[in-house]
Amino acid sequence: MEECVIQVEGLSAGYGQKVVLRDIHFSLRRGEVFVVMGGSGCGKSTLLRHLIGLNRPLAGRMRLHGEDFWAQDSARRAQLQRQFGVLYQDGALWSGMTLRDNIALPLATYHPHLSGDELDELAALKLALVGLAGCEGLYPAELSGGMRKRAGLARALALDPQVLFFDEPSAGLDPLSSQALDQLILELRDSLGASIVLVTHELPSIFAVADTCLFLDNQTRTQAALGPLAELLAHGPEVVQRFLRRGEGAPAATREIHR
Ligand SMILES: Nc1ncnc2c1ncn2[C@@H]1O[C@H](COP(=O)(O)OP(=O)(O)O)[C@@H](O)[C@H]1O
Ligand SMILES: [Mg+2]
Repeated sequence: MEECVIQVEGLSAGYGQKVVLRDIHFSLRRGEVFVVMGGSGCGKSTLLRHLIGLNRPLAGRMRLHGEDFWAQDSARRAQLQRQFGVLYQDGALWSGMTLRDNIALPLATYHPHLSGDELDELAALKLALVGLAGCEGLYPAELSGGMRKRAGLARALALDPQVLFFDEPSAGLDPLSSQALDQLILELRDSLGASIVLVTHELPSIFAVADTCLFLDNQTRTQAALGPLAELLAHGPEVVQRFLRRGEGAPAATREIHR
């Protein structure tokens, strides 16, 4: 039996009266890359906000190692959330701080006993993990877009998360930087044994990294498919096949994401 990190059971999500997602269910296993895909506006970011415990579901449950997240008090929820690392768009780094301080700050907050030297060492280690060894003293503005994402990732790794969340990480990156980020995601999965939840509609990323895929459908407001990529390619519902094959033989101008 593979170890289950997150279980989502019958989750519905929305804003006020507006239901965006209905009856979502899946399990995230340890060490897997789980891709959430679907056209723009189908609720990918909404689902991610629920998975990291920022939004409370309208119905259904999220379990973390079996523990019902929203049945816990806020102190316990905060403790559980510490197992999560999130890479926000553009890294969301603090612009007035060096990379060393960007990483040291969350560490110092949760581990007040760490000395300055230990913080230096840990920050250097996290930066090395994402290919930014020696960049401790740089400020975010001195970095390229791809380097900023890496630095944001180093900060997301600060607290040794068990699950890493990415929302459209390749947005704004050129294809090569985007490919390098996909490789880095796989390396981190392998070296840290972390589970990865990746929200994307980029086909090259999906094909490069996905173990399991969840497809959210704009029309029905629920999941149209869940399973290994190869299985969805071979036997998935038509809407999913169309999504996954949209690049094939189509002129660039018609490669609009299916709505
Ligand atoms: N804070 C919000 N308040 C109200 N509606 C929202 C909010 N955020 C997103 N939505 C709506 O929820 C739907 C799904 O949005 P989102 O999760 O951002 O989709 P995706 O990330 O797949 O593009 C959209 O119709 C969007 O307009
Ligand atoms: Mg989004």
